[in-house]
Amino acid sequence: MRPPQWCLTLIFICIISLSGRTAMTAFEFGRTYVVRPKGKHQATVVWLHGLGDNGSSWSQLLETLPLPNIKWICPTAPTQPISLFGGFPSTAWFDVGELSEDGPDDFKGLDASAAHVANLLSTEPADIKLGVGGFSMGAATALYSAISYVQGKYENGNPYPANLSAVVGLSGWLPCSKVLPKRMEGAVEAARRAESLPILLCHGKVDDVVLHKFGEKSSSALNTVGFHDVTFKSYERLGHFTVPEEMDVVCSWLSSKLGLDGSS
Ligand SMILES: *[C@@H]1O[C@H](CO)[C@@H](O)[C@H](O)[C@H]1NC(C)=O
Ligand SMILES: *[C@@H]1O[C@H](CO)[C@@H](O)[C@H](O)[C@H]1NC(C)=O
Repeated sequence: MRPPQWCLTLIFICIISLSGRTAMTAFEFGRTYVVRPKGKHQATVVWLHGLGDNGSSWSQLLETLPLPNIKWICPTAPTQPISLFGGFPSTAWFDVGELSEDGPDDFKGLDASAAHVANLLSTEPADIKLGVGGFSMGAATALYSAISYVQGKYENGNPYPANLSAVVGLSGWLPCSKVLPKRMEGAVEAARRAESLPILLCHGKVDDVVLHKFGEKSSSALNTVGFHDVTFKSYERLGHFTVPEEMDVVCSWLSSKLGLDGSS
């Protein structure tokens, strides 16, 4: 027995409207937490949390750091279905199937998050140095921002609207590492920017979420395509979290690369 024609039509309309809705939905970013500089404002750094986390938890940690000249902006990622969790929703900067550079890249999600970050930075005063940093998937998004900045555009072709002076990635990986060499080929301006953009990567030796070797590979992949100021630090007994010893390095590295004078 065949279902009546009106029934098929109805199903068809439902499918069209559902798929239409999916295509139209832009994921909404969560709340942004700002940590005001305790001294003279010299730099602004957007800091990105890991999968399932939020901007609030990192803003509380960053507030305790001895960096009086930095304004921290800690946005919260959109809540979206995650392939890694079988479609279960979580706060995430982009969709992931696996937490490594081997997985396919969700360029649409990466572009949207990198643009959200750049927009937060682009309204800062012209004399303020700008940076992006993050943990885990936040580190991956920070590195993707670095790539977008040196290339002057996102994957979708839109122009990147800010000048970055420093990028930090903790326990993360480099998205788009497979297409990167091809993209950097013959791009003179991108090569010039890559050469002078300082990047700090830190990774725990016993990280069981994003393996240490992915951090190492990201560092060498960046070096290979022309990033010549990449510092890679390994931590012996560190898993997928952060320790004060690591944050000390982040502080001194940021102070030196952003030329902060510690003034109040
Ligand atoms: C943010 O995440 C932490 C866990 O990292 C959680 O304890 C806290 O409730 C979350 N805060 C908000 C506002 O979602
Ligand atoms: C970035 O720096 C270059 C060179 O100093 C300058 O020409 C450009 O306007 C800057 N772009 C933005 C978005 O500030």
